[in-house]
Amino acid sequence: MIKPIYLDYNGTTPHDPEVVEAMRPFLETEFGNPSSSHWYGITPKQAVEKARRQVAGILNCTPTEVFFTSGGTESNNHAILGVARRFREKGSHIITSSFEHPAVLEVCRYLESDGFVTTYLPVSEAGLVDPADVARAVRPTTILITLMHANNEVGTVQPIAEISRMAKQHGIIIHTDAAQSVGKIPTDVEQLGVDLLSVAGHKVYAPKGIGALYVRPSLVPEKFCHGAGQEMGWRAGTENVLEIVGLGKACEIAQNAEADFVKTSTGFSTGGATPEDLILMRKAVGPRMGVKASGGIKDFETAAAMIAAGATRIGAGAGVAIVNGAEKLP
Ligand SMILES: Cc1ncc(COP(=O)(O)O)c(C=O)c1O
Repeated sequence: MIKPIYLDYNGTTPHDPEVVEAMRPFLETEFGNPSSSHWYGITPKQAVEKARRQVAGILNCTPTEVFFTSGGTESNNHAILGVARRFREKGSHIITSSFEHPAVLEVCRYLESDGFVTTYLPVSEAGLVDPADVARAVRPTTILITLMHANNEVGTVQPIAEISRMAKQHGIIIHTDAAQSVGKIPTDVEQLGVDLLSVAGHKVYAPKGIGALYVRPSLVPEKFCHGAGQEMGWRAGTENVLEIVGLGKACEIAQNAEADFVKTSTGFSTGGATPEDLILMRKAVGPRMGVKASGGIKDFETAAAMIAAGATRIGAGAGVAIVNGAEKLP
């Protein structure tokens, strides 16, 4: 029987078996509410805080800057709506690109119906936003720049750090949708210089329906969900302990894999491809994350063959899937 090959890791990833193992106790026995002050609440509460540390680890921030959400869409909504509502007095102009996921574009469109104005920047043929275009689009009323880190279709990585430096000079808040990049390329919030960063669990071998938002402490966006005091009073609702644990574990695994990748790419262990091959591959596809993705150096040959065969759009997108996914498939 022909076995199908799953190459849509930008669409979603399977659950990492280690993620499943980490989650298992919270599915089977540890059903307590983390807000409970009695015995049953202790382990779930500790698990949520451990996961917060694990997510903070991959983002290089402190755990109190990480808020759990239901995924990339919700994180983007919190970030954009939260900033827009809180800083409305300061201005009503938002800069984004025409290339964003609907979880950003539709939020901007919604805000337009409420009096906000959005500039949708174009992207080059190579799938990149030009930082000079961002600078030109800035107005005295600009309160937010929201640009994705890595694109979900073509895998291009935007020059977020450069754009952040410019945003800082103008006192503009910057958000990046890192749904596709977390766990695949470095997503250090200090290096990127962002104020808000969205994480989607199901792109990094955790379940669907879990995500996180990094929020720089100097910035307190509008409270999004009102109710009890969960998530430091910012997003009310009993925590999704099971999936929070899964996201935390997935981030820990990805962070370790990223460290391994740095080791292999600097020649400690070549795993089939030489560092020279790696450099050639990087040159061939430019700033696309497939080549930088963690794990699977031996799969570069496959990725290289696809690119050599003329796959540009598919090669880049599927390249990420191949490099990240091949070793995980049963
Ligand atoms: C770039 C990007 N942002 C946001 C999302 C939405 O994330 P979620 O499915 O977790 O809501 C996706 C998912 O496809 C995505 O690729």
